[in-house]
Amino acid sequence: MKVLVTGGAGYIGSHVVRALGEKGYDVLTYDNLSAGHRQAVLSGRLVTADLADKNAVGKVFSDFRPDAVMHFAASIEVGESVREPLKYYRNNTANTLNLLEAMAESKTDIFIFSSTAAVYGVPDAVPIKEDAPIRPINPYGRSKACIEHMLEDTSTATGLRYVSLRYFNAAGADPEARIGEAHEPETHLIPLVLKAAKGELPGIKIFGTDYPTPDGTCIRDYVHVDDLSDAHLLSLRHLLEGGRSEVFNCGYGHGYSVREVVDAARNATGIDFKVEDSARRPGDPAVLVASSDKIRQRLGWTPRHDDLAYIIKTAWNWERKGGFKR
Ligand code: UFG
Repeated sequence: MKVLVTGGAGYIGSHVVRALGEKGYDVLTYDNLSAGHRQAVLSGRLVTADLADKNAVGKVFSDFRPDAVMHFAASIEVGESVREPLKYYRNNTANTLNLLEAMAESKTDIFIFSSTAAVYGVPDAVPIKEDAPIRPINPYGRSKACIEHMLEDTSTATGLRYVSLRYFNAAGADPEARIGEAHEPETHLIPLVLKAAKGELPGIKIFGTDYPTPDGTCIRDYVHVDDLSDAHLLSLRHLLEGGRSEVFNCGYGHGYSVREVVDAARNATGIDFKVEDSARRPGDPAVLVASSDKIRQRLGWTPRHDDLAYIIKTAWNWERKGGFKR
């Protein structure tokens, strides 16, 4: 069984490529390496090309003839998306259109999409269910919500079947620390906290301490990247067995505050780093927690690493190793 993985050299994509390889799938990673890392691809071949290049996209379909496509490649920074919205509509929305057109031409009809909790914007209620309103509050979330609409319309009109996985806060790393999170620049809480513990950063700022949460800091549903991997493999099996299109949240159904993450990192590392209370970061909802009942019931997803200490331990082992050598 052949799987084309766009963005397979990136953080979540590389963990899924590794898991697909372990399960015996024939994997081809398609990545322009603008944010990904060649060394992150632990299974199969890597084609270094851009999804904006329609000829290259068409060629990969005619050469590799995939049975299914997993689409991770995207720009992912909320702040950048506000400053450069067209980059997000180009890299995320328009490039997905190229991919879906190439799939239609080659009659490839199984698609797994990396969506995001950002499509919900500020939720009316938590835990958030999949049928909550789609009201993204930034161009990143809107660029991904557009793709969800494209998928819904295309699957109604054609034989395309898809699973859209709305990730909450992906975190952690490979247990053997071969691959992990390596964004440039890094904006995510857990890697930043660990860089502070390592002494690579002078400390960490807590963005907002006056939220309506028990300790005043934002709560997020941190999900280990290997549990996200499992969700992809289950989604693939569901579609290969003829299952219908679905949208699933991927989170554990409970969250941790920024302060709890900081404390867990201090415990895991044994290092007391500098923490400074700071102003709110614009656009941060107070609480983002997934209802994950649907994916647990429909696909039998059973998270293996619902444990903040384990998430931080794997991220710390990766961080101490120093990431990918360029
Ligand atoms: N935070 C800090 N200090 C920092 C960095 C982050 O206090 O230096 C806080 C943020 O304000 C937030 C929490 O830590 O409350 C988590 O922030 P991240 O940047 O790690 O993650 P987000 O929840 O902002 O973003 C994640 C994904 C996005 C996605 C979003 C969905 O990384 O791609 O969830 O809402 F859009």
